[in-house]
Amino acid sequence: MAVFGAGYVGLVTGACFADLGHDVVVRDVVPDRIDQLRAGKVPIHEPGLEELLHRNADRLTYTLDVGEAVRDAEFLYVAVGTPPTYSGDADLSAIWTVVDELGGLEGRAVMVMKSTVPVGTGAKVRHRLDERGLGHIGYVSNPEFTAEGTAVRDFQHPDRIVIGAFEDADGDAVEQLHRGIDGPFVRSDVPSAEMIKLAANAALMTRISFINEIANVCEATGADVVQVAEGVGLDRRIGPSFLRAGIGYGGSCFPKDSLALKQLAANSGYHFQLLNAVIEVNELQKRRVIGKLQQHLGSLRGKTVALLGVAFKPNTDDTREAPSLVLAGRLAAEGARVRAWDPIATIDSLAGVEQVETVAAALAGADAVVLVTEWPELAEIDWTAARESAGVAEPVFVDGRNMLDPASMRDSGWIYESIGRPSA
Ligand SMILES: NC(=O)c1ccc[n+]([C@@H]2O[C@H](COP(=O)([O-])OP(=O)(O)OC[C@H]3O[C@@H](n4cnc5c(N)ncnc54)[C@H](O)[C@@H]3O)[C@@H](O)[C@H]2O)c1
Repeated sequence: MAVFGAGYVGLVTGACFADLGHDVVVRDVVPDRIDQLRAGKVPIHEPGLEELLHRNADRLTYTLDVGEAVRDAEFLYVAVGTPPTYSGDADLSAIWTVVDELGGLEGRAVMVMKSTVPVGTGAKVRHRLDERGLGHIGYVSNPEFTAEGTAVRDFQHPDRIVIGAFEDADGDAVEQLHRGIDGPFVRSDVPSAEMIKLAANAALMTRISFINEIANVCEATGADVVQVAEGVGLDRRIGPSFLRAGIGYGGSCFPKDSLALKQLAANSGYHFQLLNAVIEVNELQKRRVIGKLQQHLGSLRGKTVALLGVAFKPNTDDTREAPSLVLAGRLAAEGARVRAWDPIATIDSLAGVEQVETVAAALAGADAVVLVTEWPELAEIDWTAARESAGVAEPVFVDGRNMLDPASMRDSGWIYESIGRPSA
């Protein structure tokens, strides 16, 4: 099989299929990426991926050359990026490039779409393949549900594998390819498979914004959102996942996919009110941190604020649409000095933000600390010692992920605030 795109999805897909015994050629357009992979280096951080790539090295090839990728391929997996355009619609240009670069394919191969695309994309790709004399290439939508940080495990133990095909035989072939993975298969038509992905993401985002709004009402009324979420989530009709209040979602998928679904609806004449509210709640949630800091510090001009965590979530180096970027930008706009720490991710796109190597360096002399990403090592820190060595009498600590225990943080001498839990 050929895999187009050596990013988070393409590499996990390639490695997991190689592990199932298939021969995989991964193609990318970035020479440095391919050079690194050929040299045995993995260009992204994803737990378990490096080991899987090394273990299956004899079944994996990396290339810049389309011809080499497709030569003997029976399956053409597409895992290229689909970022938002200025209009908020998904930018499908990388997908059209893949389609246009295919040529000279004589045997029957099936193109399998892993990239997240608007409903209707499969039909357009089908049309373009036919126009280009590639009517013998099948097309299947097989959306990706893995989460960064747990992608290898998610791929190998999926909740479901969605296969939307124009022709049953192509869907059967893709199902067969997954032999060795126990997942329920959901077979559907192509537009429905495309919509399953967008709707699943929208449902998860809705839960996050829902619990964040409950948290905000908890703050105003004296309830504790952690206790509330536990009591709500034990209801079997609701369930406990995605009910953790915090400073909002980020990442390479949720923000862009919500925007794409919103625009898809709008372009089709429908105003998706609920999704609009979900997006707006998430934007406001990130900014509420600034209010919490101002409540204790007054003006932030000249104050030093440490951001703990840059990645949009733990166990990844991905900073796309990370809440840390919005916070850093807002803090800089308020005149604060921003110091950021992360064990693996780097914040390289923002002027005025100093990135430091250790938590201690981030805290030194800081007037306030914001826990942005719940990296497990932050739970291991002796926060009393950390406060003392920080050298500020009463530094403010905003725990944006409700990761730490309020009572022990306050006992450690911090002015501790969190999300939806009573203030000191
Ligand atoms: N990241 C995730 O966890 C995740 C989860 C589910 C779905 N998705 C979707 O999967 C798709 C890929 O996401 P990603 O995070 O892996 O993106 P990414 O940016 O990490 O990787 C995309 C790769 O495609 C390469 N590329 C661009 N044009 C190419 C071409 N013509 N031929 C070959 N390679 C090409 C890029 O150089 C890049 O390395 C997106 O549509 C995304 O929404 C991502």
